Amino acid sequence: MAQGHTSEALLGIDVGTTGARALLVAPAGDVVVSASCDYPMATPSPGWAEQDPADWVAATTQAVRTALATAGHPHVLAIGLTGQMHGLVLLDARGQVLRPAILWCDQRTTAQCRQITATVGAERLIQLTCNPALEGFTAPKILWVREHEPEIYARARQALLPKDYLRFVLTGDYATEVSDASGTLLLDVRHRRWSAEMLAALEIPATWLPDVVDSPAITGRLSATVAAELGLRPGIPVVGGGGDQAAGGVGNGIVRAGMVSSTIGTSGVVFAHSAEIALDPGGRVHTFCHAVPGAWHVMGVTQGAGLSLRWWREQFAAAETATAQRMHSDPYALLTAEAATVPPGADGLHWLPYLMGERTPHLDANARGVLYGITGRHTRAHLLRAVLEGVVYSLRDSLEILREMRVPVVEVRASGGGARSALWRQIQADIFGTPVVTVHAQEGPAYGAALLAAVGHGLYASVPAACDAWTRLDSRIDPIPGHVAIYAAQYPIYRALYPALKPVFERTAAVRPGDESPG
Ligand code: XUL
Repeated sequence: MAQGHTSEALLGIDVGTTGARALLVAPAGDVVVSASCDYPMATPSPGWAEQDPADWVAATTQAVRTALATAGHPHVLAIGLTGQMHGLVLLDARGQVLRPAILWCDQRTTAQCRQITATVGAERLIQLTCNPALEGFTAPKILWVREHEPEIYARARQALLPKDYLRFVLTGDYATEVSDASGTLLLDVRHRRWSAEMLAALEIPATWLPDVVDSPAITGRLSATVAAELGLRPGIPVVGGGGDQAAGGVGNGIVRAGMVSSTIGTSGVVFAHSAEIALDPGGRVHTFCHAVPGAWHVMGVTQGAGLSLRWWREQFAAAETATAQRMHSDPYALLTAEAATVPPGADGLHWLPYLMGERTPHLDANARGVLYGITGRHTRAHLLRAVLEGVVYSLRDSLEILREMRVPVVEVRASGGGARSALWRQIQADIFGTPVVTVHAQEGPAYGAALLAAVGHGLYASVPAACDAWTRLDSRIDPIPGHVAIYAAQYPIYRALYPALKPVFERTAAVRPGDESPG
């Protein structure tokens, strides 16, 4: 874990979907130490996803303390926050959490999304917020609580995103920054401020929303009580930080035109920097403020990317997981080695990774995971390879939309847990038809948050300047022409499956008994 000692460091904290990470980075950009601590996700009803914000705080405390102890208690100059986007944390007048947080991957709000689109108008919605109403976004969650839990709604006084709840615990301040706020459907993304028109149309009190600042701006200082618990000194500045995608983009150096990243975490994201605001009229990709002041980013999201492989491992790979644990190795390495034994294209087997519905390109909460084309000759290894490939076909759907929007794609930088697998990176290069590189620091969002803290603290003049100083390329994989040809033939088959199944997904959602959410 520890890669050396330093006397000064920036602290990046990532409140992720599966756990919290604390990352210490030296002022020149070298990772000092990373520590993480997991927490559970509850699914109280099909398609729902909730977490207890207290778990985020406890896991962060443990991760920060471990990181500091491992690094020999460096002098922390500034803290940057990042985390899973879109989640809703509701607080009462005393700052107490009113109900479990409703997460980005929760699909319960289809009715509220329809209501928002009908109230505001589909076109006006895109003009105001740059995005359509999607189940995962924050505003529909607020409406869901108003409708289904009126007693909680009546007591609510603040609505915060996950990392901004942590900020409140750390500093006592209510604040957010533009990149994460972009995923609420309440931000005027073009002008980088809350949209009074959206708030009025949805009758959400403006006082519930925190101040919104640029991502490197300092929003407050570490309180004495929390500092003592974490083992830090009080008064350390905390900067805005970024939603996990914007912060990950910064961590990967995606801060100039032509640069695109592909991140396979729980979700999968294709992310491009955009100096001007760029919109897909169909709203299939999101247009959000970047953590680079004055810039935006465009991104397509696959809901069930790493989630597909994790689901596979949890359901079908108990033996490999146990073996890996005994050998202190990574169970995913065993699974991808097995997948590598079958040829590209998995002999015609296809996986649609719609375990949690899908965002890009279908915007369909009813979509479901599908394994298509099974014959008697397919093996377990084929199934595994099909899962890896299906996730990448889905990311290619996003890349195709960026290309349609004329967002330049010169090189793809791979990150997230999925980038650890050389096979998965090769599959990306072959399906995308572009070189796939990785950067030296693979801590993604937490690294970007630390970088934003460095900029906020004044160590660098701008986010791109800090990226120039911190980012180093690590590996490069080029497409293999023979594989490219196989995938070029298979991709249209993958593309044909969703439209063929869409009516069946709709019927499945309509007939499911006793479920409040069709998603
Ligand atoms: C982005 C998104 C995910 C989550 C969880 O729109 O939903 O990146 O933030 O990682």
